[in-house]
Amino acid sequence: MVELVFTVNPGIEDIVSREAYGVFGGGVSRYSMLSGRVYYSVDGSIDYLFERILELKTINKAMLHIATLEIEPSYSFLGVLKNRLPRVLEGIVEFIGPGTSFAVTTERIGVHEYTSIDLARVIGDAVIEVVKEFYGRRPRVDLRNPSVIVHGFARENELIIGVLLSGPWSMHRRGYRVYDHPAALKSTLAVAMLYISGARDRQVIVDPMCGGGTIPIEAALLYEDAAIYGFDINPLHIRGALMNAVAAGVVEKIVFRVWDARRIHEVIREVDHMILNPPYGIRYGDPWSIRRLYREFLESAEKALRDRGRITMITTEYTYVHKVVKNTRLNIVHERIVQHGGLYPHIILLEKM
Ligand SMILES: C[S@@+](CC[C@H](N)C(=O)[O-])C[C@H]1O[C@@H](n2cnc3c(N)ncnc32)[C@H](O)[C@@H]1O
Repeated sequence: MVELVFTVNPGIEDIVSREAYGVFGGGVSRYSMLSGRVYYSVDGSIDYLFERILELKTINKAMLHIATLEIEPSYSFLGVLKNRLPRVLEGIVEFIGPGTSFAVTTERIGVHEYTSIDLARVIGDAVIEVVKEFYGRRPRVDLRNPSVIVHGFARENELIIGVLLSGPWSMHRRGYRVYDHPAALKSTLAVAMLYISGARDRQVIVDPMCGGGTIPIEAALLYEDAAIYGFDINPLHIRGALMNAVAAGVVEKIVFRVWDARRIHEVIREVDHMILNPPYGIRYGDPWSIRRLYREFLESAEKALRDRGRITMITTEYTYVHKVVKNTRLNIVHERIVQHGGLYPHIILLEKM
């Protein structure tokens, strides 16, 4: 059994766990919601896991779990950590020998008196000490092209240390984003929304406010044979979405068009899924026009959906959505909080009854 740790967008831990179960064909997970991490124990060689991890579409990073420690925010705690780390990092000698080049990367979320660089230095020193103690020789530090990356993920009062399996960049950064929409949705959240929606192949999937096209592009990468549409009122974004879809190699699978989502029923009907990330009032600065947009869109979407068709939306305007759908055939069947861009929007799943 190997224990992996995935760092994830807070709020989708259960979805990551289900996705991992599907990809690895088994395994046991442990997580708490909104914690931003999922521990996953699974059978298999490191080489097998290494390849399979790239199939996960909802994680940020994956590492082989070496240690989890409680940490304190004071600068003086670095001294305590320096003493404690060599003992908990003993397992690192399995991956780093005297001939292995390594680097340490760190991420830090929360308020600490020390920086990520301070943490990386303390972890790096401990790795050197442990390897030297075990093999009698120091490993080589190579920040440019290391064979092994040791990653430290500090979130509030917890530090997780592991051997990175997913490369130095977060996997939410897909290579296709040549056009960067100013309010782009994280690709991992887009995939999580597609999973939540229950969308399947051979269905009609529409993002009526698609911006740079993240949701339609992720849908096209996920499903072989769905009818996928992306609309946006702004021609600049539609052009950008097309560029992104070309870069992702899925432009033939999506129809992009400039259109006003408040009149979506005039352009498409019998829709199985509307999946969208509409503008938030807090970003717009004008709650009234945003609410009018939500109301008019939901009224039009109700007409465009087939019976039992669904809307999956991520928004900070959830209270308003609750109010508007009271007078419609749209029922809320699922709702959850996630973290996105420093805010805590809800993902709401509505079904047309
Ligand atoms: C938060 S952004 C979507 C970002 C997108 N999910 C992405 O990842 O790039 C919201 C989008 O809604 C579009 N929008 C606003 N009002 C609209 C309307 N009435 N009809 C269609 N699109 C609209 C905006 O132009 C903007 O691109």
